[in-house]
Amino acid sequence: MPSPPLRSHYRFPDPSDAVELRAFTHGLQPASVPAMMERFTEDWRQRGVDAWNEVPNHWRPESDDTVGWWTLPTYLGDEFIAPLLGAPAGTCIWQPSVHWTVQCLLSTPEVQARGSTVVLPDTAFPSVLHSAQNWEELQDLTPDIVSGPDARRVDREALLDRIGPDTALVAVSHVGFTTGARLPSAFLRRLADRAHQHDALLLVDGYHAAGSMPVDVRDLDCDVYVGGLLKEGSGSAGNAFLYVRDGLELTPRLTGWFGDAAPFEFRREPEPHPDVRRRFLGGTTPVAAMYHAVEGVRLLLDCGLDAVREHSLALTQRALARADDAGLSLRSPRPPAARSAMVLLEIPDAERMTRYLKTRHVYTDSRRNEVVRMAPFLWNTQDEVDRAFDAIENGLHEKTYRSHTPPDTGPVT
Ligand SMILES: Cc1ncc(COP(=O)(O)O)c(C=O)c1O
Repeated sequence: MPSPPLRSHYRFPDPSDAVELRAFTHGLQPASVPAMMERFTEDWRQRGVDAWNEVPNHWRPESDDTVGWWTLPTYLGDEFIAPLLGAPAGTCIWQPSVHWTVQCLLSTPEVQARGSTVVLPDTAFPSVLHSAQNWEELQDLTPDIVSGPDARRVDREALLDRIGPDTALVAVSHVGFTTGARLPSAFLRRLADRAHQHDALLLVDGYHAAGSMPVDVRDLDCDVYVGGLLKEGSGSAGNAFLYVRDGLELTPRLTGWFGDAAPFEFRREPEPHPDVRRRFLGGTTPVAAMYHAVEGVRLLLDCGLDAVREHSLALTQRALARADDAGLSLRSPRPPAARSAMVLLEIPDAERMTRYLKTRHVYTDSRRNEVVRMAPFLWNTQDEVDRAFDAIENGLHEKTYRSHTPPDTGPVT
C-alpha cells in the first residue's frame, strides 16, 4: 500500500513511534497550525480592533479576496465548508459547536410553524437529542424519540413511519457515533422526501461523515446539515459549521448582535441579517479558533475527498481482517458502503485495554467499557494498524491488559 497522502503535513505526538488512531475524537494537528496561530497573535498586536475590518488573507493567500474577522465566518463557509459538503456558495457558515446551531434552529418560529414534533432516533448525539428534549418546555416542540432494535442502532422503517402531519423537524446523524455506521444516501433521501411531503425539515448531523468521505448535501436533499471540524477535520475545538438550504427562511430567536442586519446602529429593536446563515451567529465571534479552523480541511480538499475515503476504507479493511484473525467481534459495520472511518471492537474490559494500549503508545478510546474504538485515518499507515493489532493481541493473549494497567486518567476517554 502506498504511504498515506500528506502524512508529512501533520504534527505527531511524542514519542516518534506513537500511533494516533483517534481521528474520530480529536484529529491530529496540521503542520500549518503553529504559523496560523502566530498570525493571529500578530494581527491582534498590529491591528487591534481594525482586524475586524481587514487582515491579510492567510486562508487564501493566493487570492485577492479581502477578509476581516467580521466576514471570516461566511468566508470560511464559502471557501472551505461548502466544498466539503458539495454545497453552493452562500449556504454555509462557521459555527462554534453543533449544540449552539441546533439550539438556534429549534428556536426558529419557522420550525415550530411546520408542526409540533421533532422526530429523532434515541441514538442521536446529546447535542441534538438533549437539545430537542430541553426545548420541549419552551417551544411546544415535543421530541418524538424512535427506539432502535437495540440501544445502539437506528430503526429506519420506524423512523420513516413516525414522520407525519405533526412533524416539524426530523433529525438524524449521518454516521452513528455508537456504531460508526453510515446511513445510506438513498435512505436519507427517503427521509427528506417523507419530511417534505409533510412540510417538515430534515436536519442531518454530519459529524464523522463530513471530512472523512465525500458528502453532497444537495443530493441528500436535506434542509440543514451541521457538523464539526474537531475530529477528522483536524480543526480542534470551537470550530463547527452549518449548511442551510438556499432560500430556506429561518429566523432564530436565539441569535445575537453578530447576526443583526445593522449591528453598529445599535437600534432598539433587533433586525435579522438578510443573509439567513449569518443569523446563526451570537455574540462576539471567538476569532482565535478560526485561525486553525480549516487547516485540516485544506489538507482533505487538497488530497481530494474520494482519495481520503479510499485510504480510510483500505485501512479499516485491514483493521477488520486483523480483528477477524484475532477472533474479535465488531460493533461497527463490515460492508464498505456502511462503514465510516471508525472501527469498534467488542473487547471485555475495554477501558483497561485502551489504557494498556496507551502504555504501548497506541492511542485508541473506549465506550461504556464495552468497545475499543479506533479510526485509522489520513495520517496512518497499514503498518500502524498492524502494530495496533499486534499490541491488542499481546494484551489479550497474555491477559496483561487486565492485570496491570495504569490508573484512570480523567473524565474524557
Ligand atoms: C454525532 C456527533 N454530533 C455532535 C458532536 C459534538 O457536538 P458539539 O459541537 O455540540 O460538541 C459529536 C461529538 O462527538 C458527535 O459525535
